[in-house]
Amino acid sequence: MEPSTDQMRVMVDQVAERVIDHIASLPSQPAAYDEHDADTRARVSALAESLPGTGTDLDGLLDLLFREVIPLSYNTAAPGYLAYIPGGGVFPSALADFIANAVNRFVGVWIAAPGLVQLELNVVRWFCEIIGYPASSGGILTSGGSLANFTAVVTARRERLPDDFLAGTIYTSDQTHHSVRKAAVLAGLPEENVREIATNEDCEIQLDDLRRRIKEDREGGLQPFMLVTSAGTTNTGAVDDLDGAADVAEDEGLWLHVDAAYGGFFMLTERGRECMRGIERADSVALDPHKGLFLPYGNGSLLVRDPGALRRAHTTFADYMPQMQQDTDLVDFCQISPELSRDFRGLRAWLPIKLFGIDAFRSSLDEKLDLARWAADQIRELSDMEILAEPRLSLTAFRWAPAGHSEDGLNDLNRELLRCVNARKNVYITGTMLRGRYALRICVLSFRTHQDRMEQCLVDIRECIEELGPAQ
Ligand SMILES: Cc1ncc(COP(=O)(O)O)c(C=O)c1O
Repeated sequence: MEPSTDQMRVMVDQVAERVIDHIASLPSQPAAYDEHDADTRARVSALAESLPGTGTDLDGLLDLLFREVIPLSYNTAAPGYLAYIPGGGVFPSALADFIANAVNRFVGVWIAAPGLVQLELNVVRWFCEIIGYPASSGGILTSGGSLANFTAVVTARRERLPDDFLAGTIYTSDQTHHSVRKAAVLAGLPEENVREIATNEDCEIQLDDLRRRIKEDREGGLQPFMLVTSAGTTNTGAVDDLDGAADVAEDEGLWLHVDAAYGGFFMLTERGRECMRGIERADSVALDPHKGLFLPYGNGSLLVRDPGALRRAHTTFADYMPQMQQDTDLVDFCQISPELSRDFRGLRAWLPIKLFGIDAFRSSLDEKLDLARWAADQIRELSDMEILAEPRLSLTAFRWAPAGHSEDGLNDLNRELLRCVNARKNVYITGTMLRGRYALRICVLSFRTHQDRMEQCLVDIRECIEELGPAQ
């Protein structure tokens, strides 16, 4: 199980060659596999295997991976991936994982790898700086936005409610990501205590309704304790009035959490900062480097104004553990997060930021803002098109609405349009329901997506409309 140094070099070269070829061919690869293909199930079933007693050579395994397994997927790393909330997967993060897994150090406690812990703390500090938090703030890196939202709910619950917390109520909007409801339930709160406040035309939480609902709940003997707002919803990219929400939270004594999993890194841009004014007033913020920082999946973060809150919610002791740090600058991650043993995820962000510099990310994010606006303007020019969500950040939603169709008919027509665009495999986009209307969404967030791909996307939409049009 310990290859010789020569064998290791050969293995690394074999993997590097496949990976580099794969990345180089991304622009010409299909944007997704054919998920409607009748053969898919059989191809997946063929991959099931029994526990191997003996080994296989690496080349054969790489063949299997790169020829049969990887192509059977949405091409989330490709420039044409405009679905859900795209990520990317910058190359240095892959190198970081290689290094981190090869040296395999333990970063759950400070004493076990203080240098590596410091690098991860640097990353957390940089993220705090990006959202405008003070030097006294802190946080943790998580596996993603769901775990960041979960940790925020648990922390808020511990800070604001007694041990008997079943009367606690959380306020969200009807556009809040579903991971927040899940987080509330996992944190032990009754699901019916999660309030969904209605949103306005722009899909932003209605603060008057929020205040009214909090008052009613208090009068009903409940204990409002947390408000979750969104800085970039998954549905339409909407950004709540964060300053207004902070006023409500302050007046009502609620823990304010901003789910900025998608939008947060746009704080690097001037337009993003304008749009998310007030974010720094939140008690906690979730932001996902595997979205707006183009990192590979498995990278989220939770930032908090008061790191003591994370500590109070997560600290436990055991005799077999090493001495924990008393100096608050020396952090034991296991004392401020749910995990003990875990990957050294800090390196995945540290290496690309150090290599490229944050300005490279800033200008790429600015480009995404431009591309989404360009796409919305082009779509607006097409006849019978309705923009259902103007881009606040890098997401726009629209539908084709030719005359003579019922609302149900239009929904079916737009599902057809989506299928037609995706079947061309130059781009992959997804749809959603917006107030009973089926909408197509374009979310631009990969560092690999540039003007040429957006032009192709528009060509595909135009051609599909022509193709579907006369038959309607
Ligand atoms: C706004 C928002 N919050 C939370 C999440 C959940 O993040 P993750 O998928 O990293 O768990 C997402 C995922 O797309 C999101 O868009």
